[in-house]
Amino acid sequence: MSQDLPRINTQILKVPETELGKFRDGNDQEKLGLWEVSQSKSPGIRILNEAAQYLKTKNTPIAFPTETVYGLGADATRSEAVKGIYTAKKRPSDNPLIIHISDLEMLRSILAPENTSNGTTVTNHDRIPEIYKPLIKRFWPGPLTLLLPNPISSKLAPEVTAGLKTFGVRMPNSPLALSLIKLTGMPLAAPSANASTKPSPTTAQHVLEDLEGRIEFILDGGPCLVGVESTVVDGLCDPPLILRPGGVSIDELRSCPGWEKVEKGYKDQSETGKSAPRAPGMKYKHYSPKATVILYEASFAADYNGIQAQDVKTFIQGRQFQQISRNGSGGLQIGIIRTRHWKPAAGLRCGDFKSETVKTQNGQEHHLAIEFDVQEAELYDSTTAVPIGKLMDVSIGTDTRSIAHGLFSALRELDRRGADLIFVEGTVDDEDIGAAVMNRLRKAASQIKS
Ligand code: TXA
Ligand code: MG
Repeated sequence: MSQDLPRINTQILKVPETELGKFRDGNDQEKLGLWEVSQSKSPGIRILNEAAQYLKTKNTPIAFPTETVYGLGADATRSEAVKGIYTAKKRPSDNPLIIHISDLEMLRSILAPENTSNGTTVTNHDRIPEIYKPLIKRFWPGPLTLLLPNPISSKLAPEVTAGLKTFGVRMPNSPLALSLIKLTGMPLAAPSANASTKPSPTTAQHVLEDLEGRIEFILDGGPCLVGVESTVVDGLCDPPLILRPGGVSIDELRSCPGWEKVEKGYKDQSETGKSAPRAPGMKYKHYSPKATVILYEASFAADYNGIQAQDVKTFIQGRQFQQISRNGSGGLQIGIIRTRHWKPAAGLRCGDFKSETVKTQNGQEHHLAIEFDVQEAELYDSTTAVPIGKLMDVSIGTDTRSIAHGLFSALRELDRRGADLIFVEGTVDDEDIGAAVMNRLRKAASQIKS
């Protein structure tokens, strides 16, 4: 059983992202034909070579960054290696994994395995369905996963597809990930590198929090740019479907030929109408921090100044304090995640804010770096003026891309600081990748105000 695994010493290996590789035209002069790893002997390349060697021979997965979230990768062609992912993550084995490829040549070799029965080789035959070509051209490498038919004599381990006739595949937009895959020479099966049920990791530190002692290596390439997982689409049915909203928006998909009528093939809380508050503890076991998450839908949140003392009181009323507080005597720890409209902790009686900046990164996309101030203040009972706990207030930006980028990180940070309750200001579904943000939040929330 996974619980009985001996503890492993988990190391974070920093991989400098300097000139790890680049695309070269394949035989047919296409842009994503071949990924070529740099021939340099730089420290980054050395680490990636060692990691690839490990993936080829060992059955314990390695965590690595992609532009969406950190993945937990294993050689997708070896059953024992793929089983190692399910064990490390404690993931139910009926949930299929996405495979990650470095270039189109690798995808073609999966779609058309060499036919040895009559001696002919069909690797060059293009079996990529036409419907996907405009998407590949526009969004790869990037946060989009395509469902493809798994060939009968597939080289993918059966554990990857969990018994389905299709496999999910994407080409990540990260030179580190592409080079690791290329050096391994095999597609890497990789789910998000969180423990099952936790928010997906967007830094190496997040992976360590969840998987320390369970895997040997975490490759650290800095914080992930997108911050939510890839969009999963099925173009094998008519009309095509979005199975999971993610880093590519529905409008972006609709602008591609053949995808004008793409439909949502997933459901979340917004479709169930005005949802009655669900009982705490009845959470979806997904994307969930330890704290209880209370989500305000955008329609509700927009007319709202921010969390009021009344919201906190309403939540606490009629409940045993021990049911809410994670740390018993430490009082009530309340987290607030703001997006577009909320003012900082309006209406709550709190002491002076002291702010602290959490994790900064100087990347090219500085506006998306994980850099937020958690403002902390004492919280008082408004009638008796007795201190009752602590308030932690975070703003993760006003546009949908920065909200996506900071969301999992903010949930984890508030959790780390011991939040009992987290109030979250939701955003709109129909703006850019807002649907992905709200889909994750609705799954994490144990109560939704709409
Ligand atoms: O951005 C991402 O997609 C990240 C990074 C690491 O690439 N990966 C990721 O993997 O989110 P995971 O395993 O956490 O989520 C994979 C999703 C699941 O919802 C799974 O059910 C779906 O893709 N999926 C995979 N293969 C499928 C298939 N053959 N048919 C239907 N759904 C599939
Ligand atoms: Mg996941």
